[in-house]
Amino acid sequence: MPSVLFVFSSAAPQGWYLPEAAHPYYVLAPHATIDFTSPNGANPPVNEGSVQMYEKDQESVKFLADETVKAKLANAKKLSEVSAKDYDAIYYIGGHGPVFDLAVDPENIKLGNEGSNFFFYQSGKIVSAVCHGLAALVGVTDAQGKSIFAGKNVTGFSNVEEEILGTTKEIPFSTEDRIVSLGGKYTTADKPYEPKVVVDGLLLTGQNPGSSSPLGEEILKALQK
Ligand SMILES: *[C@@H]1O[C@H](CO)[C@@H](O)[C@H](O)[C@H]1NC(C)=O
Repeated sequence: MPSVLFVFSSAAPQGWYLPEAAHPYYVLAPHATIDFTSPNGANPPVNEGSVQMYEKDQESVKFLADETVKAKLANAKKLSEVSAKDYDAIYYIGGHGPVFDLAVDPENIKLGNEGSNFFFYQSGKIVSAVCHGLAALVGVTDAQGKSIFAGKNVTGFSNVEEEILGTTKEIPFSTEDRIVSLGGKYTTADKPYEPKVVVDGLLLTGQNPGSSSPLGEEILKALQK
């Protein structure tokens, strides 16, 4: 079975966004081994707002009660303890947390002893992220210092969505603006909060929470290639 590394934020209270973990998890779990990691390791904090918002979402509810998932969260390794060579794909879950921690976490950028996530990407592995999970990639560059986003088709949480959420002033930077400034060819769905997934080679991105399930499907397709 292929293996996928799910990366969660450790930043509290912002945390990770429940459906963005739950939806791809249940798409991929029957077909892949999934490990969890976060900057601080065990029990990364879930975003409480997402638990309330998705209290009627079957997979989100199941994820929180799932004994296998609970064990994976409780045993999540620190980023410094994981190695890119053990995985075929990496997946960054959103929530505002990654904008605060993963964006600037040196272990995230290096991902253990394996060089950068760009190395991960250059070595033919899948790099995927949804929503604010894209923030985890803003510091990822190649040896020449070129961003992983440069010249790539990509999506991620939009400024309009941030305004609707009322969080524009609460975050250190805008995911959309940063992707654009790093040279990404950024596009969005026609309407805010509609699902949107962009695949450019091995870089797979989703715009918002509703994009996490279709992004999971694209990750699966890429793993099965
Ligand atoms: C990027 O998007 C453009 C415009 O939609 C498209 O023509 C091009 O084929 C895309 N490139 C890749 C590598 O997917």
